[in-house]
Amino acid sequence: MNDELLLYRAEFPILENTTYLISNSLGAMPRGVYDALKTYADTWATRGVRAWEEGWWTMAAEFGNEIGELMNAPKASVSTHPNVTTCQAVIASCFDFSAKRNKIVYSDMNFPSVMYFWEAQRSLGARVHMVVTDDGVTVPTERLLDAIDETTLLVPVSHVVFRSSYTNDAKAIVEKAHKVGAHVVLDTFQSLGTVPVDVQELNVHFCCGGVLKWLCGGPGVAYLYVRPDLGAKLQPKFTGWSAHQDPFAFEIGPIHYADPPLRFMNGTPHIPALEAARPGLKIITEIGVPRIREKSTRQTSRLIQLARDRGWRVNTPLDPEKRGGTVSIYMPHSQEVCRELLKRNVLVDWRPRAGVRMSPHFYNADDELDQAVAAVEEILASRRTPLCPRT
Ligand SMILES: Cc1ncc(COP(=O)(O)O)c(C=O)c1O
Repeated sequence: MNDELLLYRAEFPILENTTYLISNSLGAMPRGVYDALKTYADTWATRGVRAWEEGWWTMAAEFGNEIGELMNAPKASVSTHPNVTTCQAVIASCFDFSAKRNKIVYSDMNFPSVMYFWEAQRSLGARVHMVVTDDGVTVPTERLLDAIDETTLLVPVSHVVFRSSYTNDAKAIVEKAHKVGAHVVLDTFQSLGTVPVDVQELNVHFCCGGVLKWLCGGPGVAYLYVRPDLGAKLQPKFTGWSAHQDPFAFEIGPIHYADPPLRFMNGTPHIPALEAARPGLKIITEIGVPRIREKSTRQTSRLIQLARDRGWRVNTPLDPEKRGGTVSIYMPHSQEVCRELLKRNVLVDWRPRAGVRMSPHFYNADDELDQAVAAVEEILASRRTPLCPRT
């Protein structure tokens, strides 16, 4: 079949010698990053401290606008941060857990770092309510919605779950939160770049994620969208001079907040990471997420079929509407299979309660899926010990 997106393969050096099925963990590096980081080094080397006023100081807000376009965020509503955990901290610092509305509702399918952060807020007065999965794949939506009540302050929830690629019903969660006055913090780390996200249509309060997976942006950049009406009034206590109206006045005493997005930033911005993140974002924006999603749905369906034909358990929703870009497979001896695949340059990963995660992105060919599955079969056939279906 004619797959136009394969034209982009040449932009990603690692595809020349690996079967790269791990964009759920670290997206492939675009060739353009070499030049981006050279520009960064040249600017630092030749312009020195003048680089701040010649572009570095405004880069984070510009990048926020660029990534905001992918999620239909209005201009000036997206700030950047080093990681998603820091985004949670910025949001938490806008609220007071000693008030009556201090309940945090989340799912045990959230990414652990996000859980650890909210659990740690108990000592500041937060009441944390964790909704537990029944099957290790899905999040019980009704139970999650029931837990969101008039005392709920925040609902930090993954859009697409990292373990199983299950897609939460973000619309229903946001609607319930609106009814009772709670705020949703939607973690789109595993969705933006492969699944369409529209923050205005969802009317979500906060949205955050990182760029190193599906956005091929490398480590060190996360984004935080704050709905403009909230952005105009919230005052993060985790703050710093980047958030000041006039940082170079070096005023003494309390902060006078800048408008968003700077209001949600704090210290010196992460320039090299922002530079490295731009080429990936440019490519994804150029292709457009709907085209990526269409291909992803087809390829994840193909992977699921290949796995089921071989009797392997799939820990990912079979309904394409309910899953993101990853297929988690529990074949026999899955952890060992993963180690063997890595030795053969088939790059995937393994997670407890998930199995081997395979994540085709726009740059993967259908053949690569077949090759990865054939490699698994070969690994299993070469084992002498009896097969155990649940490892
Ligand atoms: C859904 C989700 N949230 C958050 C993270 C990581 O958070 P952080 O950027 O703080 O490392 C991941 C990483 O795998 C993830 O999959």
